Amino acid sequence: MNHKSSSSVLLTIPFLFFLFLSLNPVGHCELDYYIYNNKCPDLFRIVKYGVWAAVQNETRIAASLLRLHFHDCLVNGCDGSVLLDATAKFTSEKNALPNRNSARGFEVIEKIKADVEAACPSIVSCADILAIAARDAVVVAGGPFWLVPLGRRDGTTASEETANQQLPSPFESLNNITAKFTSKGLELKDVVVLSGAHTIGYAQCFTFKRRLFDFNGSGKPDKSLDSTLLQNLQSTCPKGGSDSNLAPLDSASASKFDNGYYSNLAKSSGLLESDQALMNDPTTASIVNSYTQYPYLFYKDFAESMVKMGNLGVLTGNKGQIRKKCGSVN
Ligand code: HEM
Ligand SMILES: *[C@@H]1O[C@H](CO)[C@@H](O)[C@H](O)[C@H]1NC(C)=O
Ligand SMILES: *[C@@H]1O[C@H](CO)[C@@H](O)[C@H](O)[C@H]1NC(C)=O
Ligand SMILES: *[C@@H]1O[C@H](CO)[C@@H](O)[C@H](O)[C@H]1NC(C)=O
Repeated sequence: MNHKSSSSVLLTIPFLFFLFLSLNPVGHCELDYYIYNNKCPDLFRIVKYGVWAAVQNETRIAASLLRLHFHDCLVNGCDGSVLLDATAKFTSEKNALPNRNSARGFEVIEKIKADVEAACPSIVSCADILAIAARDAVVVAGGPFWLVPLGRRDGTTASEETANQQLPSPFESLNNITAKFTSKGLELKDVVVLSGAHTIGYAQCFTFKRRLFDFNGSGKPDKSLDSTLLQNLQSTCPKGGSDSNLAPLDSASASKFDNGYYSNLAKSSGLLESDQALMNDPTTASIVNSYTQYPYLFYKDFAESMVKMGNLGVLTGNKGQIRKKCGSVN
């Protein structure tokens, strides 16, 4: 080989490498779509059936599973830590304020995990099962399908304190919520897109009640809340007590994954302060308006942001473990 051609080979190799990276749909992380095709061929059927059966029993569980994946990923990455019960060595995220008496679906994931273990023991992590279940929950609710990159391993610890610090609160400002997302590698747009998950499911009165009677010390309800919705919410959540009563996050269609969440915001009918706040910033409001107009744009962006969220802080290689049960480390 003469000098000229060897140097062109040397230049070509890194070029091909970058070309490969840019064509790799999973991106920079080590997850892949097809890793279980041989090792656990029934995986997708088992998860899909488990989610379907749970939704047959109770429609709301689709929303609960979607939220559980979010609460897993935002705290120490998507490592199944949200599923762990407390031990002598660590506290549980289940017990953190945003999750206690609120996060649901643990039994559904544990049941699916048992079925997956029966078919292919110690192959598929709880973190992966939760990521697939969240996708299937969206599909069952009428939302978009996406391929879920797989190969996450399960973490061996959990932290109530970290969950308290890192999960967003509905009483926080948009800036503060956005900071929590961006510190993980998500962007402002992802905040708007992923908040669209509130097109399904329910919230307890205490998460929005301060808007109903004496907002921010004004002696009056929140002016940015539609008056008909306000009346309904005041009757669902009366002044004295009933703080765990439920109201739909999307009052137009609580069990249908559609773009109704965004149409609501445009009509001052967002339930949480943090939902309605997306209309107060010109950048986020213009994204909301585009999803009100173009539901399929929302579906496409939601699928993309879910993949992005699902890749946060994943454990691969020889990190972590494949738990036998989701509620405890091996
Ligand atoms: C942007 C910041 C967010 C805040 C402040 C927030 C806050 C909340 C609150 C307060 C509830 C009601 C919990 C209860 O009353 O027990 C809720 C429910 C829910 N959240 Fe969020 N959330 C946010 C983002 C997300 C994201 C990114 C997702 C998923 C991708 C999500 C999915 C859900 C779902 C599906 C429910 C209904 C759960 C059910 O009915 O069991 N949320 N959220
Ligand atoms: C069915 O849903 C109810 C709540 O509506 C729940 O308490 C129960 O555990 C669920 N059963 C199964 C088998 O998932
Ligand atoms: C935003 O975060 C700062 C710093 O943590 C905190 O002091 C402030 O109270 C938060 N504001 C809101 C509205 O959540
Ligand atoms: C609440 O009231 C304070 C003081 O009047 C004001 O600075 C703040 O912007 C208000 N917050 C909201 C969400 O209206």
